[in-house]
Amino acid sequence: MTDKRRVSMHGQWSSRWAFILAATGSAVGLGNIWKFPYITGANGGGAFVIVYLICIAIIGIPIMMAEVMLGRRGRQSPINSMLSLSKEEGSHKGWQIVGWSGMIAGFLILSYYSVIAGWALAYVFRAATGMFTGATAEGIEGIYNELVSDPERLLAWHTLFMVMTMVVVARGVRSGLEQAVRFLMPALFVILLILVGYAMSTGSFMDGIRFLFTPDFSKISKAGILIALGHAFFTLSLGMGAIMIYGSYMTDDASIAKTSFAVAIADTLVALLAGMAIFPIVFAYGLEPGAGPGLIFKTLPLAFGQMPGGPFFGMLFFILLVFAAWSSSISLIEPLVAWLVENHNMNRVTASVMSGIFAWLLGIATIFSFNLMSGVKLFGKTFFDLLDFLTANIMLPLGGLFIAIFATWVMSRESSRDELALVGKAEPVYFIWYFLTRFITPIAVIVVFLNAIGVL
Ligand code: PFF
Repeated sequence: MTDKRRVSMHGQWSSRWAFILAATGSAVGLGNIWKFPYITGANGGGAFVIVYLICIAIIGIPIMMAEVMLGRRGRQSPINSMLSLSKEEGSHKGWQIVGWSGMIAGFLILSYYSVIAGWALAYVFRAATGMFTGATAEGIEGIYNELVSDPERLLAWHTLFMVMTMVVVARGVRSGLEQAVRFLMPALFVILLILVGYAMSTGSFMDGIRFLFTPDFSKISKAGILIALGHAFFTLSLGMGAIMIYGSYMTDDASIAKTSFAVAIADTLVALLAGMAIFPIVFAYGLEPGAGPGLIFKTLPLAFGQMPGGPFFGMLFFILLVFAAWSSSISLIEPLVAWLVENHNMNRVTASVMSGIFAWLLGIATIFSFNLMSGVKLFGKTFFDLLDFLTANIMLPLGGLFIAIFATWVMSRESSRDELALVGKAEPVYFIWYFLTRFITPIAVIVVFLNAIGVL
């Protein structure tokens, strides 16, 4: 590598492994365990899962490589990286808008992400105290309803989670959380396997599997296809600069292709396992697959209520879920914090606290959308639904679209090949990446958008 290379003022991961851990920490979160099952349930199952998997393979992985590449070459917050790279490639500085939109999307997502992570925190205690033991489906539903209808309690948990996020972000990118991810992610994986084991014992395992993996394309709507695409971006933390900024802390010798692949596989496995644990329970207890955002909180406690050692496993599961959410939330706000440090001369602590406070404030609107304001709807959506739709289904795919265009239409092949370092035997990988990113991603995103608004 040449001596022209930039160095990030925010520091660097200690190794290739640290990057994989941090990026996996960002990718694996509420999106896999909370969101994937409920949107799959609400959009008919198998066909939705297939569309989602296709999006991961032909859009998600190439965009992840593009984002890491841009980040590592720019070595600054997404806004400033895009600015430097567009200058370097002799293009318009307006490309920094990709960084802006991402930074705003991350902030908006964090505001509601923290509220849901708060539910998981609350459930740690509900599980540990044996509240689920022997409970019926109605009992479990009652516990959920009681929690989400109480704004005060939600606010307390939301506040706690936001403070946890601010503390880690304030301490910087190489804080202890990445080390925690090394142990906690495998543990989460194991506990999901235990839950799948329980699901097998319910007698409805095959119903769940069939629901997840037998595609019936009459069950997926145009809007459902957009949701699947949006979720591919959301679950891999793409389209908003989180992976870009993590790429900016990556060491020069790490392989972008291999690491992106590893992260995407791990992320997908966790989501599928969560689905395989949840849907058999849904069918065994005659619950509604389309129950919405409460789905995991209404299903998994039933399993913990029945299995031996339930309170312990339940507590462990929700603790791990909180950690998974924690390692994602810090990446949601990192682009904003890095930008405040770079452009506004702020120190990390002030930047983190300020960003956190604003996201916390906005989160209160999400809290109310589950209780006091649950009847207030725009286009048939509550505030939370609207925020989620705007960010995951519009802002992230658009961000991804422009990242793809920048990486393959604006950036020279020389630059991308140099940064991706796919030479010699790996040359075909470069061409596959280039083809998918240059043609397939933009076309797919545009077609899905037009399709969703009824133009196609
Ligand atoms: N990927 C995270 C999840 O699946 O929970 C959510 C997320 C994190 C989305 C970071 C976007 C992001 F930039």
